[in-house]
Amino acid sequence: MRKPFVAGNWKMNADGHASVELAKAIAFGSSESAEQVHIAIIPPFVYIPAVVKAVSTARIAVGAQDIYFEQKGAFTGEISASMLKDTGCTYALCGHSERRHVIGENDELVNKKVAAAISGGLLPILCVGELIEERKASKTEEVVTRQLKNGLAGLNIEKASAVTIAYEPVWAIGTGLTATPQQAQEVHALIRKLLSKMYSAQLAEEIRILYGGSVKPDNAGELMRQQDIDGVLVGGASLNADDFLAIIQAAV
Ligand code: 13P
Repeated sequence: MRKPFVAGNWKMNADGHASVELAKAIAFGSSESAEQVHIAIIPPFVYIPAVVKAVSTARIAVGAQDIYFEQKGAFTGEISASMLKDTGCTYALCGHSERRHVIGENDELVNKKVAAAISGGLLPILCVGELIEERKASKTEEVVTRQLKNGLAGLNIEKASAVTIAYEPVWAIGTGLTATPQQAQEVHALIRKLLSKMYSAQLAEEIRILYGGSVKPDNAGELMRQQDIDGVLVGGASLNADDFLAIIQAAV
């Protein structure tokens, strides 16, 4: 049985005070559900230490929104997996759609980040998802297959088992246009089938696949009731403690 996983990606939002207050409110409000639901919050880099401290007595993991693939050196502005691990991070998003489509990251770079996260002791959350033009052109399967295969390239089964996949259709992110549970389930089932072929039926059965894109308290439950949807990666609604707690509750 895969334990439900609810993660909140704060993106470039919340200042220092707001980050700590939000983290504390989530920790307080999730104390009972944290046994049944795996919870992670993913604040901006600079607030990670304060957020780690704020949730230190709660069962809440903290993640980073990105990492760089080198371990150390002259890479001004970048942060390594081991530095993030050192601050108390457990997870790292790799290849979030905003990194791919706003910052310009490609599959090769995303793959290096996934591998570096694992080597540095972090658990990567590999994000995949198609653009609206790609969906309209019936290219969803092709795009997701390419991003998944390239994102995991070179990883053996042991390393791949450390990965969580997040399917986030780009057209559903921040738009209020959620994929229907059926649309999401279809892609999640495809991802699981691909993982089974690439690795093993057991790995495909055990790996967690999250859905992201305009997840709200009123649609989270139905999404997570789909067979292959093991949780959600929440953007906007994770900035409001009540909404995020309601989404966690929907996973119980
Ligand atoms: P929204 O929930 O704001 O659509 O963002 C989804 C997302 O990108 C999470 O990583």
